[in-house]
This record gives sequence, C-alpha cells and structure tokens, in this order.
Amino acid sequence: MPLIYIKGDITKINVDAIVNAANSSLLGGGGVDGAIHRAAGEELLFECRLLGGCKTGQAKITKGYKLPAKQVIHTVGPVWHGGDNGERELLYSCYKNSLALAKENGCESVAFPLISSGIYGYPKAEAMQVAVEAIKEFLQDNDMLIYIVLFGDNALRLDDRLYAGVNSYIKSTYTSPAPPLAAAQAVGAKPAVPGSSFKSILFKQKKAKPAPPDGGAKASVTAEEVCDEEAEVCFGAAADLSVSLDERLKYLDESFSQMLLRLIDEKGMTDAQCYKKANIDRKLFSKIRSDISYHPKKPTAVAFAIALELPMPQARELIEKAGYSLTHTNKFDIIIEYFITNGRYDVFEINEALFAFDQCLIG
Ligand code: APR
Repeated sequence: MPLIYIKGDITKINVDAIVNAANSSLLGGGGVDGAIHRAAGEELLFECRLLGGCKTGQAKITKGYKLPAKQVIHTVGPVWHGGDNGERELLYSCYKNSLALAKENGCESVAFPLISSGIYGYPKAEAMQVAVEAIKEFLQDNDMLIYIVLFGDNALRLDDRLYAGVNSYIKSTYTSPAPPLAAAQAVGAKPAVPGSSFKSILFKQKKAKPAPPDGGAKASVTAEEVCDEEAEVCFGAAADLSVSLDERLKYLDESFSQMLLRLIDEKGMTDAQCYKKANIDRKLFSKIRSDISYHPKKPTAVAFAIALELPMPQARELIEKAGYSLTHTNKFDIIIEYFITNGRYDVFEINEALFAFDQCLIG
C-alpha cells in the first residue's frame, strides 16, 4: 500500500524522512514545526541555521537527530488567502519538491503532515486533495512508502456532500449480522447441486419464510430458492443472465490470481497501471502474479476490483475468489458497495472515506 493515511504524531514515526511544515526562516515555530524541533533537539536548529532559509514551495533536508526518522525535509507551504493567489500550485510544489528530495537522498519511506492546513489556514479538505494528487502523480513513476499523518480528531474533513452520501447509504443498508450458520441449516437449506463447489456457496444465511398462519408445515426455504438467491449473490444482483452457465462454469475453478490477470488483459491494462491504480506496491503484485494460489488480504482484493472498475457482480466474484464476501453487516463492505454502485473507482478517494469512518484502508 504505497499511500497510507494514519492518525498520530509525526515526530514519533520511524521512517526514512518526515516532512516539516516550516516557515521561510527554517528557524522553528509553532505547530508541527515546533513539535519536530522539540523532538529532534537543538542540533536540528544548528543545522537549519546553515541552510539560509527556504522559499515557499521549495524544500531542504537535514538530519533527524533525536527523532526516530533519519532525516527531516523542511518545506514552506503557502499561507491561505482565499485560493486565488497561486496557493494550490505552491502547495503542490511543496509535495513534489519534498518527494524529489526524498528520492535524491535514497529515502524509501516518507511521512507528511497536512502542509499549510494549520496556522497557514489552508482548508483541510482542499489541502488533502492537493496532497493526494501530488503524491499519486509521484507514485505513477516511483516506488516509495508514503504516509499522510493526520493530527487530532478533526484531522480530516471529508467533502461534506460525500460524507453525507456515504453516511446515509450506511444507515439505509446496514443489517445486523445474521444468526449463526446453524440457523441456515435449520430452515432446510439443501445443496442444489450436491457435492459441487456450489455447496459452500449455498450454506449461507437464508431468512426463514414466515410460517403459514394456520401453523402448517414448518417454514422452509427450497433448495431452488436458495440456489437462485445465492446465485444472484455470487454472480451478482440481478445476475447477468446473458452470461451462460457454461461461461460461468468455465471460470468457476479459476483462482484469484488467474481471474485478476485475465481481467487485466481483458481491460487492456498493463500490470503496473492496475497495481498503481489499486494502491498496491510492485512487490506484492509480483507475489500475486507468480503464485496462482495466492490469497491476498481482503483490502487488497477489494482494491483490485476497484482498480479494474468492475461492476458489483464481478467485483463480488473477484473478492469471493480471494475467500471473502461483501455483506451489509459491516461499514467497510457497505462503503465499498457505495462507491462501486456510484461508479466512483478512485482508491484514494475511497480511502479518505474509509479513514473518515474509521475503517481499514484498501490497497
Ligand atoms: N504531527 C502531525 N501533524 C501535526 C502535528 C504533529 N505533531 N502538529 C500539528 N500537526 C498538523 C496540524 O494539525 C495541521 O493539520 O500539521 C498540519 C500543519 O499545521 P501547522 O503545523 O500549523 O503548519 P502550517 O499550517 O503549514 O503553518 C506553518 O506554522 O508552525 C508554524 O513555523 C511554522 O510558521 C509556520 C506555520
């Protein structure tokens, strides 16, 4: 996962370099600047004195001294004056120049605060959007582990409309976890295709039909109903019936890795385009490519479904190949479903929403 959002104090992070939101004197200040100088000790100030200051949008590097981080990249963000004075370009340059300097100095991991979003007054949501855009651009052609460190509780303000959209979708979709598996068997769910790999599919939760008012035969669910409904879940709501059963069966025993590589080809993507878009690092992708029985973690499987821009049925199918499912019993799954059904396939935007709802990130 090359780009990760975390909550915390940047002075405590053990990476190759942390970035300081400094002022042009580079002689310390309040906010994260003050925190970094306090944690690094006075030697940092001595070295900064030799740098002769720094222009807005530029970056300079020093050692980390008493910090866990080996080095500190000092950059000066723009002061927010309403957004019509080149603030966005200057802020973008802070990230671009800091990353270039990190690369020049052989850094493999870097942590950023949200530059300019404190004392300099840059609105947090816009500051985050510029940060993510600049980092995504850098990651297109470079491999590096990059953290955006958000400080304090109101660290990240998701776009209000997006937050409202996701929140109401969660409220309208969430269903409490179904009773244990035994209940499924208790309502008479039977494998419609005995001894087949469908079996594990069909022994899922089925809501028992209400018993007929006259107290007649025990409520039960016929195998056909289970099969149809489950088939719908596994092959997608309103299953695409134009896809013949043969077609489906052809890929039934395909592994996650085989299905992923097939879909990358079908989409006309290169491997790198896919894993970069999925916020997956090259090493992990090489593992998946070289081991057809590789089982990725759920956030990784989901990230590939998003990067491939799969419709819900196919997304479910790919995720099922990795051994997981998307349900309505947890926020993570519902948020993923929200973005897929709304055709919003930006992993980094989805991660901002997952972060805002305290869910694990994808990639
Ligand atoms: N770890 C991570 N992030 C932090 C920390 C910390 N220890 N302390 C503050 N932050 C966050 C703030 O919450 C804000 O989101 O860093 C972001 C940047 O805020 P500031 O530190 O105020 O920096 P900035 O807005 O760029 O203003 C720079 O402030 O500290 C002075 O000398 C600095 O004059 C310069 C100005």
